[in-house]
Amino acid sequence: MAEPQREAVQGRMQRLAEAIRYHNHLYYDLDQPELSDQEYDLLVEELARLERAYPEWALPDSPLGQVGGRAQEGFRPVHFAEPVLSLSNLHDREELADFIRRMEAEAGGPVAFCAELKIDGLSVILNYEAGRFVRAATRGDGITGEDVTLNVATIADLPAVLRDPVTIEVRGEVYLARSRFEALNRERARTGLPLFANPRNAAAGSLRQLDPEVTRGRGLSLYCYEIRACSEPVTHQHEALERLAFLGFPVEPHWQRCQGLDALWDYVLRWQQGRAELDFETDGLVFKLDDLMLARRIGNTQKAPRWAMAFKFPPEEALTQVRRIVLSVGRTGSLTPTAELEPVRLAGTQVSRASLHNADIIQALDVREGDWVYVRKAGEIIPEVVRVERSLRPPGTVPFVFPDRCPVCGGEVRRLPGEAAYRCLNTMGCPAQLREALIHFGSRAAMDIEGLGERTVDLLLDQGLVHDVADLYRLTAEQLAPLPRFGPVLAEKLVAAIAASRERPWARLLYALGIRLVGEKVAQVLAQHFPSLEQLAAASREALTAVPEVGPKIAESVRQFFEEPRNWAVLEKLRQAGVKMADEPRAAPAQGPLTGQVLVVTGTLQHFTRQAVEAAIVAAGGRVAASVSRRTTAVVAGDNPGSKLERAQALGIPVWTEAELLEKLGHGGYA
Ligand code: IVH
Repeated sequence: MAEPQREAVQGRMQRLAEAIRYHNHLYYDLDQPELSDQEYDLLVEELARLERAYPEWALPDSPLGQVGGRAQEGFRPVHFAEPVLSLSNLHDREELADFIRRMEAEAGGPVAFCAELKIDGLSVILNYEAGRFVRAATRGDGITGEDVTLNVATIADLPAVLRDPVTIEVRGEVYLARSRFEALNRERARTGLPLFANPRNAAAGSLRQLDPEVTRGRGLSLYCYEIRACSEPVTHQHEALERLAFLGFPVEPHWQRCQGLDALWDYVLRWQQGRAELDFETDGLVFKLDDLMLARRIGNTQKAPRWAMAFKFPPEEALTQVRRIVLSVGRTGSLTPTAELEPVRLAGTQVSRASLHNADIIQALDVREGDWVYVRKAGEIIPEVVRVERSLRPPGTVPFVFPDRCPVCGGEVRRLPGEAAYRCLNTMGCPAQLREALIHFGSRAAMDIEGLGERTVDLLLDQGLVHDVADLYRLTAEQLAPLPRFGPVLAEKLVAAIAASRERPWARLLYALGIRLVGEKVAQVLAQHFPSLEQLAAASREALTAVPEVGPKIAESVRQFFEEPRNWAVLEKLRQAGVKMADEPRAAPAQGPLTGQVLVVTGTLQHFTRQAVEAAIVAAGGRVAASVSRRTTAVVAGDNPGSKLERAQALGIPVWTEAELLEKLGHGGYA
């Protein structure tokens, strides 16, 4: 896979993991989710898909490795004999047809399903002994839940005594009826309490109250849908639902026994439309094999039954008007457009902003200030604009144009060919970018300033001590010593570390400047060809692209950097601060058996680390390139070579084994 694509995938995995962790925290620890289950599932599914496709990049601390839902302090833990499973999702008719086919293949013929509404609340496990209610637990992580017996006992729908004296374990969903939710929020607004975002949040918060009387006041409801264990077992799901109702449990009445794709799909269509009329929120349907003996034979995966699936309704859309389009400047200077909206309800929450992503998308949608637009919650944290309702466009609107100046610092805004984002070019001085710029400048591979970590950078910014990277060289120990966590010793140390960084090789400074697309490797190559700042700054696009490994995009980015006068101001300050901006004349490159060779190394070698092999090649007069191009003279392939090997083969470039490389280096017969 090409490097930028790999970076994009890894970046996406990282962002998804962060988002999932954040939403787990909101949901499990704070009981204040911002996403519906459906939106959350989209995040989880995307990450799971990427982890399956690229297992080698799965983060060691991936949130999918850990189920959320730590038992909260204050409730006794309950350990379940049988794990409390969740459901896998279906999204469309094809996936539903596949599921039916799989079940029919298992059964060896047509099978009936029990179709039910999926109630958007919280799972509870209820225990009755000899017909008497004894315990209720939340699902927790499926293995251990929380004992919420006293709270559940306040729910009016819950039978305290069953019609028959059975011993039974039942699963159900605690929810807050829409009508109750509206009433509760009206009441809270009147008394000045914060409003609940949606019925599900309200139900979750109400169930976990330490005082059961508070729970009672909320007016929760209950529907039951599964017999997990019973002294008098049933053989079919429809029978289970009938038995539950007979015993006195509340059972959602719209379930249906269906057979065949058409019948199941009719159920989907009916409730996709019909759900708005229900007094509870439903985020989908559940299709369960009716024959529970067959279900038991088919079994479960670790997390979900194979014999039952949730059918998720597609995300809801809402129509509203764009008040303004605003731009925010990200940490790397990218300008992200957001639509400020007339607030509108969408999938259970109030929405007043939606992402417009980038200039291409604005242009493709032709969204204008004043337009009526459809918004949708997708997998991302903030909703997005899906399309413009042209028939409602007010007169006098104008197409949105990106400004040519940064809204934060006034620096020039440009876009690299082929990139979606417009960026502020004032990379070393723009306040929106300064934190990242400073952290990068001081990082090990850049100016290697020990002690200039994130916390110190934040402190310096808070105190207003630096306004661009060059200000670092003006800091004095007297200024730093009184700051929190500093003192005279650390202050002296940091000032000394900053002073020492003046002498870093020019390639390091170049990397430290944070020019877009100029990573460590490219900085080294550029510094080799242009041994001073002046020479690099004077290089034309053509001169830049003549350098191996420098393509038109990098060349353009370097040119743009030097065309922004604000960057020159900072460079001048760096020069005055005595930062080295050129290399001493270099010795001629080594001559040796690899003179004239441009090698690319891929895979794991037996006798060398990556640095060692590169050093050995350079010492033998050769050059090492990061990616395969027509200029590559050979590819050295170790174990598990990557896509570089395929590319070399496609371009007909010779491939050497490690043994062949050793031989050329003069270590024949293995070192
Ligand atoms: S069956 C093995 N039926 O949806 C049985 N679940 O997304 C698995 N839910 O965690 C559950 N209504 O909390 C089932 N009629 C219904 C449901 C239902 C709501 C919830 C349940 C589950 C979640 C899965």
